[in-house]
Amino acid sequence: MPAETTLDAPEPADSPAVPAEAVTPLIRGVTVLRRLTEAGGTLSASGLERATGLARSTVDRIASTLARMEYVRLDGRDVVLAPRLMELGNAYLAALRLPALLDARADALADELDESVSLAVGDRDGIRFIHQATRRRAMSLSFRIGDLLPAERTAPGPLFATEWTQEDWRAWRARRAADPEDRGFPAVPPREHTEKDEEFGQRAARAREDGWALDDQLIEPGLVAVSVPVRDPRSGRIACVASVVSHTSRHTAADLRDTLLPRLRGAVTDMERELREAPEAEAEAGAAPSGLAAWTGASKQELGREFIESLARGLTVLTAFGEGRAELTLTEVAKATGLARATARRALLTYEHLGLVAPSSRRTFVLTPRVLSLGFPPLSRTSLPRIAGPHLADLAARVQESASLAVLTASGEEVQVTARAAARRVMSVDIRVGTRLPAAATSLGRVLLAGAGETGALEVGEVRARGADGRDSGALEARARGTDGRDTGALEARARGTDGRDTGALEEARAHGADARDSGALGEARARGYALVDEEWEEGLRSIAVPVRDRTGKVVAAANVALHAARRTAEECVLDVLPELTATAARIEADLGVAGRFTRVPLV
Ligand code: PHB
Repeated sequence: MPAETTLDAPEPADSPAVPAEAVTPLIRGVTVLRRLTEAGGTLSASGLERATGLARSTVDRIASTLARMEYVRLDGRDVVLAPRLMELGNAYLAALRLPALLDARADALADELDESVSLAVGDRDGIRFIHQATRRRAMSLSFRIGDLLPAERTAPGPLFATEWTQEDWRAWRARRAADPEDRGFPAVPPREHTEKDEEFGQRAARAREDGWALDDQLIEPGLVAVSVPVRDPRSGRIACVASVVSHTSRHTAADLRDTLLPRLRGAVTDMERELREAPEAEAEAGAAPSGLAAWTGASKQELGREFIESLARGLTVLTAFGEGRAELTLTEVAKATGLARATARRALLTYEHLGLVAPSSRRTFVLTPRVLSLGFPPLSRTSLPRIAGPHLADLAARVQESASLAVLTASGEEVQVTARAAARRVMSVDIRVGTRLPAAATSLGRVLLAGAGETGALEVGEVRARGADGRDSGALEARARGTDGRDTGALEARARGTDGRDTGALEEARAHGADARDSGALGEARARGYALVDEEWEEGLRSIAVPVRDRTGKVVAAANVALHAARRTAEECVLDVLPELTATAARIEADLGVAGRFTRVPLV
């Protein structure tokens, strides 16, 4: 039973009481995020009311606060988790450092074996995935980063159990008795065969001796896995567990042990070397102090009762943690967030109660794997078209024209539309998701071809756009955060969106007028940062496109606005539409940057 439900539901006998100083709005906000996560990312306001037991007015205020933080989106009656929320899980994963150091090796092993490979950490009496290199076939289930599984129904579980204390075992038995069907683990089907408690104890004892463990269809028929612990070179304790996962149509469990275990062990040896030889983590900057207070203050002014400052401030505490900032003292948290010590202390206390933060050595605090339960599993399965969708819809509403996102096809000769928002008008340009268009003749294609032509190094315009030196790091994000404490490209974009006139591209466009038509179209697209195609490909059609870049600065898609030539002149497209389009691309890039930090975001 999750601890936070204790506010609204009867307390289970052994759950700790809510500390007197806990921040109630923060507990409620976290509850809302967790219920949304369990529901797969979307709930109506009344669904949330039922799921949380909170009053409707409370749900609405929490939702509007979270929407202001860009952690959720309000879509009609629905509250929908938004990619930006992944910054909380990212803070945990960055602080943990294991993904940065080990993901590539897990991916390489998955390629070599052509089987799924995962990394999991222990989370009390469960295991939680921190990485998935997925090759799933013939399987109805595949787990996501952040999913929590009951230890006893997995291969990593008995390995983690070798380090459990008496108290851990007691809590495990209590949970098994209280939740005989594993309802507390929404990622797995209900438990059917009841293994006796002693049997799991025996598996843990065997795992200690063997140094590996098997899952022979403990979760569902067909699913088999073999696991090996990756040990922390300093403490000798299990840092995470690496697993190879397959299906009985390809390997029996015994088969996995005989044929794939040796290669898994080899990979784990390499992982342990990686951990040993890794240089100390460089500290990334935490949230910016002065900006946060200003930002929450301004939001309060604007939204009044519909903005809960204590929730917004409390959530920011989690983002104080990160790479090189894994263990923080109260003073460091207060300094990083700009919160008063007393406020930071109450937030930390609240998080400790919720199991999201744990006290560590020397009066420091660390994030727990549970932070991943705040939205990460559903959001880690997003795609670029899904990220872009709401932003394109906003754009289409603002400029009253249709907007699209497209990628280059493998041949490079065509573009394929991957997301689309149509303006609400009778005569809009007839393009749908899936439509292919000739690359060279369209604004989308020219931007993509120009991007494909860029050499590895980042170009001047991009470095300018990124505001720094193009280094793909948390530090870069942190720098962008500097001014207002809400680290986003999206915020920058918002600032830009309103006046939009300060961009280099626009200056250039003004200088060049509307002559963007022919000569060296790709070079121009690259130099100006946009492409304008004026009635070339189809009479009466005018379109303007800008690139969408990933965290590394690579052009991965293009966004455009297409309209009938009679509606706006080419110059008006540059003056009125381009700033909005550029701001939209920046918002998509900001979301993609957060979502793509520890997960691979499919482009189509
Ligand atoms: C997985 O990575 O999906 C996985 C790992 C170990 C298990 C089951 C599933 O025992």
